[in-house]
Amino acid sequence: MKDLTPRKDELDPIEIASRDEIAALQLARMKWSLKHAYENVPHYRKSFDAAGVHPEDLKELSDLSKFPFTVKTDLRDNYPFGMFAVPREKVIRIHASSGTTGKPTVVGYTKNDLDVWANCMARSMRASGTRPGDVVHVAYGYGLFTGGLGAHYGAERLGCTVVPVSGGMTPRQVTLIEDFKATTIMVTPSYMLSILDEYRAQGRDPRESPLEVGIFGAEPWTNAMRAEIEQAFDMHAVDIYGLSEVMGPGVANECVETKDGLHIWEDHFYPEVIDPETGEVLPDGERGELVFTSLTKEAFPIIRYRTRDLTRLLPGTARTMRRMEKITGRSDDMMILRGVNVFPTQIEEQILTVEGLAPHFQIELTREGRMDEMIVHVEVMSADIDPDMRMRCSQALRARIKDTIGVTVNVQVTDPEGVPRSQGKAVRIIDRRPKG
Ligand code: DLL
Repeated sequence: MKDLTPRKDELDPIEIASRDEIAALQLARMKWSLKHAYENVPHYRKSFDAAGVHPEDLKELSDLSKFPFTVKTDLRDNYPFGMFAVPREKVIRIHASSGTTGKPTVVGYTKNDLDVWANCMARSMRASGTRPGDVVHVAYGYGLFTGGLGAHYGAERLGCTVVPVSGGMTPRQVTLIEDFKATTIMVTPSYMLSILDEYRAQGRDPRESPLEVGIFGAEPWTNAMRAEIEQAFDMHAVDIYGLSEVMGPGVANECVETKDGLHIWEDHFYPEVIDPETGEVLPDGERGELVFTSLTKEAFPIIRYRTRDLTRLLPGTARTMRRMEKITGRSDDMMILRGVNVFPTQIEEQILTVEGLAPHFQIELTREGRMDEMIVHVEVMSADIDPDMRMRCSQALRARIKDTIGVTVNVQVTDPEGVPRSQGKAVRIIDRRPKG
């Protein structure tokens, strides 16, 4: 793989500024953001007043902990535009996340917000090893989802040639990557695996592809998956994080030279990690729920938003800005099986250790009497693998899951294509337990 480390003079100076400089900027911006939210969004005025805090109570960054959290239902309750802090006419773009139940969460952007977003995305892509002049294949979905358009404007801002393919029509994805000589691909890691299958189905060697960098996010994925994709394509696989409520992709990104967690673009987004039970702010290094406060957003300021994503904050390495560890999972995705907490990422890691199994998987939860049961559906690499070998793969996976995670699961090994594919975020859990 090529060394794609950007030169220091290519970075935004703030990426490698001193911690003092970053903190001073954060404090000034946080004061502005709290005041902006309080004065222009009735929800924040009400919730700050109810908690007995005023934006002027923020004297230092740690005072943020006095302010109330914002949760997903606050956004739903103010559907569609109640959380906007500027007149609707100043909002020049809307995005929304569908969610699984109820109304979508709607977010908005002013002209300046879109400008900041494009800059954060360009910064993320440069950190990933993408350079001006590269051909960037965007296979994140375009539309209300922030992935496609977020990547698109970032790539333009960086000075790349953008190919706005969106998701789907997998054979065409491969043709376009090859014909247009894409050097960067931006896509969910699970859909990248479908693209990999398609390379093989077309009898093409993925290692011969023009791709040098993959910028993967929008769903949890593991370092084991990174190794799998990097090996298959002979390319760098880098993690990108974001969420629509906070902006979209480009809130945090790994650096290609270190791949040791995602640097949070702290000049625009202030992170905290809290104990999800008590709401208490945890010191850096401890695992908990990630919370974000926007520092510069105009249309949709967001104060102490509980993401439900689980991670921990770590000191900067390739940049002075702090890192978040690769996300283990969302609190919503945590399954409890006979008292043991299990995340889909842990299952993914184990699947990747069993030779003969493909990395596509889905977890089905059922209930027998009062006991929850987990069935892991996973595919064999090739339809030629005989029943004996399938049995051995299944036993091996069951044993690995028992040894490393400590739970007994049922493993169902299917033919290739036996597990449903997604063109965006993978659906990892099918919950068939009776409700209530
Ligand atoms: O998924 C934004 C995005 C698009 C990020 C493209 C990266 C690339 P939402 O649809 O609002 O926005 O979903 C946000 O997805 O709270 C996480 O649970 C999950 N997520 C996003 N990136 C990662 C990642 C976009 N790198 C939710 N690792 C977040 C793990 C991720 N989970």
